[in-house]
Amino acid sequence: MIDAAFLADPYPSYAKLREVGPIHWSDEFFGGAWLLPRHADVEAVLRDPARFSAQRTGGWVMSDDTARRELGRFQQVFARAMLFLDEPHHARIRAVLNAGFRGDALRRLVPVIEQRVDDLLDAVDADAGFDFMEKVARPLPAEVMALLMGVPISDLGDFIAWSDDLAAFIGATKPDLDEARRAQASLLAMCSYFAGLVEQRRRAPGDDLVSSLLRAERDGHIRAGVELLAQCAMLLFAGHETTRNLLGNGLHALLRHPAQWRRLQQEPTLVPAALRELLRYDSPVQYTGRRVSTDLELHGRRLRRGDLVIALIGSANRDPARYPEPDRLDIGRTASGLLAFGAGPHVCIGAAFSLMEAEVVFGKLLKRFPGLSMCEATPRWSGNAAYRGLVALPLRR
Ligand code: HEM
Repeated sequence: MIDAAFLADPYPSYAKLREVGPIHWSDEFFGGAWLLPRHADVEAVLRDPARFSAQRTGGWVMSDDTARRELGRFQQVFARAMLFLDEPHHARIRAVLNAGFRGDALRRLVPVIEQRVDDLLDAVDADAGFDFMEKVARPLPAEVMALLMGVPISDLGDFIAWSDDLAAFIGATKPDLDEARRAQASLLAMCSYFAGLVEQRRRAPGDDLVSSLLRAERDGHIRAGVELLAQCAMLLFAGHETTRNLLGNGLHALLRHPAQWRRLQQEPTLVPAALRELLRYDSPVQYTGRRVSTDLELHGRRLRRGDLVIALIGSANRDPARYPEPDRLDIGRTASGLLAFGAGPHVCIGAAFSLMEAEVVFGKLLKRFPGLSMCEATPRWSGNAAYRGLVALPLRR
């Protein structure tokens, strides 16, 4: 199933999977996993933490003795990130992080984001042509995450590279030892960077997320050391890779559908609804995983404790049982049940944040470059099965 054609356009394969049945065994994901392509099942699994555990990193990293020996530190850190925790630790850490994502904390950033988007757009030569990924979608979300977390912009170059290594590993359906080694080196580099920043903020607290984590540590809600550092690394990684691909995939979809682009120009108040439709149409996160906590039966198949389940979010968002004409992009669609940000206890903590950022970008693009079009008919996709995104999106007006 996973070949170049799938990575360029997975939607026909998803449609076949949904038609053939609600559950499929595949050897292509992490040495074997159950695939769930339908909306109802993806949502049900994500909302059922008692039977489907978020603790799933073990199988990725510990596949054989060499990996187990070499990658123990990766596993030790990564497994502590909130994304991979079950209750009670998940709820405890989520409550700590929630404080950093309150409406007022985010609204404070809007004028800064607006200014930064203007600066980035001022720097492009839209008549000669520019690569939207390189000039806007890649730098902006990383800079905004850095602002939220209190990481100086000058340190960002390393972070983008470290994050890319993590994304390559997480998005590989069969990560090899080299990919895992690179991911480990990058994760540990991120942690050692954050260890330095934490010490600075301990001496001089600010109003950033790292400082708010330190307040929670002082109050006994999060442990110093690996537990705290793992959340910092996860946030930076989870926050910019995904938003980058919302900007890229979203703009690509709109420019492929010029009537929708024009409609958005005439009705800019549709931007928030349009963003949700763009997330449905070409989701930056195509799937997530869970481990079965207890032997169970699903659609007539026996799932064993420890089995991996892949919830195909990208497929769920195109399920005709949920969305009429799911392959049609319609920015006026008012459908609910969007799974692009997940569902249940692990639903994306940064959803409002990335939507706010994307609203600024699309609002400004519509105003400043109404005649925008793509320079290349065939876009270049990164080839990452989990984090779907473009390598480049050359544009001109
Ligand atoms: C368009 C942008 C984004 C998309 C599509 C997205 C998607 C997702 C999805 C699907 C999940 C659930 C994963 C699962 O259940 O296994 C998730 C969780 C998460 N996201 Fe996002 N995300 C986006 C932006 C962000 C941003 C900007 C941040 C941080 C500022 C962020 C931080 C997180 C974190 C920390 C979790 C784990 C939540 C938990 O375990 O309770 N995401 N995201």
